Amino acid sequence: MLADKDRIFTNLYGFKPWALGAARTRGDWEETKALLADGPDAIIDRIKASGLRGRGGAGFPTGMKWSFMPKAPAPGRPSYLVINADESEPGSCKDREIIRHDPHKLIEGALIAGFAMRASAAFIYIRGEYIREAETLFAAVAEAYAAGLIGKNACGSGYDFDVVVHRGAGAYICGEETAMLESLEGKKGQPRLKPPFPAGAGLYGNPTTVNNVESIAVVPTILRRGPEWFAGIGRPKNEGTKLFQISGHVNKPCVVEEAMGITFRDLVETHCGGIRGGWDNLLAVIPGGSSVPLVPAHEIADAHMDFDGLRELKSGLGTAAVIVMDKSTDIVRAIARLSYFYKHESCGQCTPCREGTGWMWRVMERLVTGDAEPREIDMLLDVTTEIEGHTICALGDAAAWPVQGLIRHFRPEIERRIAKRKGFVAVPGLAVAAE
Ligand SMILES: Cc1cc2nc3c(=O)[nH]c(=O)nc-3n(C[C@H](O)[C@H](O)[C@H](O)COP(=O)(O)O)c2cc1C
Ligand code: SF4
Repeated sequence: MLADKDRIFTNLYGFKPWALGAARTRGDWEETKALLADGPDAIIDRIKASGLRGRGGAGFPTGMKWSFMPKAPAPGRPSYLVINADESEPGSCKDREIIRHDPHKLIEGALIAGFAMRASAAFIYIRGEYIREAETLFAAVAEAYAAGLIGKNACGSGYDFDVVVHRGAGAYICGEETAMLESLEGKKGQPRLKPPFPAGAGLYGNPTTVNNVESIAVVPTILRRGPEWFAGIGRPKNEGTKLFQISGHVNKPCVVEEAMGITFRDLVETHCGGIRGGWDNLLAVIPGGSSVPLVPAHEIADAHMDFDGLRELKSGLGTAAVIVMDKSTDIVRAIARLSYFYKHESCGQCTPCREGTGWMWRVMERLVTGDAEPREIDMLLDVTTEIEGHTICALGDAAAWPVQGLIRHFRPEIERRIAKRKGFVAVPGLAVAAE
C-alpha cells in the first residue's frame, strides 16, 4: 500500500487551491531550471530508468516513446508534444482531477517532457465536456506564462516553449492519438493509418508524441525524487504509483493514488469501504475502463492491479478505471449498453468496425431478453474475432473485448435466458433442461 509520503498528487481532492502560489508550496516549479540543465538525453534516460509506462491505456514505456523523436529537429519542422486530456472512456475520471486540482503539475511536466523531446510547443487537447476543468487549465497556463515559467526563456533556461490548450467537441474517438491530431488540425476526428507513426509525421506533418495527462503530470516528481524512488514502488515492469478510479457497487466510490500492483481486495477495503452487501455479493469487475474484458468475482478478488496482473486474467489495467458490479447487476444488459456506446462512437471509416459494432449491439440486445438461438452465441464470438485486429484503430478491439469477456465468463447466463425464452427452465448444475 502507498505511504502518504510517496504520493505525487497531494492535492487530488482539492483541499487546497490549485493556483500557482499554492502549487509552489506543494513543490511544483521548484528548481525546474536545474532539472532542465541535465539536458534532454539525461531526462529521457531517467524516465526510462523509472519504469514509467503510459497511463493512457496501452502502457507503452514513456521514456522509450520520447526517444523516438528526432534528436535535432530539421529547420522548419518543429517537434510537438500533444497531451491527451480527452478522457472519454466510460469509467475513467482521473485526468480531470489532475486538471481541476493540480494543473501546474501537468504544465511543468509538459515543459520538461517537451524539452526532453526537443519540442517547441505542447498542445493540451481537453475533452469538450470538461468545461470547468478547461477554465482552470486556461487560467493556470496564463499564470505560468505571466510568471515566466513557460513561453520565451522558460524558467530562465534559455529554452522557448509554448503551451496551447485546445477544447474538443465531445467525441470518444478523438482520444485516439491520430484522430486527435486530425481534430487539432481542424479536420474531422478520424484515425490515420499507421505508419507513418506520429514521431515521424504527426501534427501538421511534424514529429509528434502523444501522451496521457497522468503520464506527463508525474514527470517532475519522478525527476525530483529520483527514478529509483518511482521504480521502487509496485512490481517489476509495473512500477510506480497510479490513480485508480473506483466506481459502481462499492460503499464509497473514489479516485485514489495507490501503488501499482495493489490487490483488488486491498484497494476496495482500504479506500472504498468494501463491496456493497459484502464480498459474497460481488459479481464481476471491469478493471480498466469499459474497453477491457470483465473479470468474475472469484478471479479478481486477490488479483494484482497492474499491467501484468490483469493481463494474466485475460483483461487489462487500461486506464485503471475500476467498474465494480454486484449481484444486482444485469450483466448481459450492462455489456449490451457498452456495445451501444462503441456503435455510437465508431467513426465509420472501416467496415468491420462500422458494420460490426452495430451488428454486435443488435445481437447483444436480443441476448438480454433471450430472444436468440443458442448457436448465435458462437456466431457473436466469431464476429468479435473478425473485428479484433482488423481495423485502423483500437476502437474495434475495444468494442470486441467486453463481449468476449461476457461470453467467456457468463455463457451459462446467456444460455439460461435463451432457454427461458423458449419455454425451458434452468436446473442448477445443468446448463438447461426441458420443462
Ligand atoms: C478509441 C480510443 C480512445 C482513446 N482515448 C484516450 C483518452 O481519452 N485519453 C488517453 O490518454 N488515451 C486515449 N487513447 C489512447 C491514445 O491513443 C494513446 O495511446 C495515449 O494517449 C498515449 O499516451 P500514453 O503513452 O501516455 O499512455 C485512446 C485510444 C483509442 C483507440
Ligand atoms: S476502428 Fe472504428 S473508430 Fe477506428 S478507424 Fe475504424 S471505424 Fe473508425
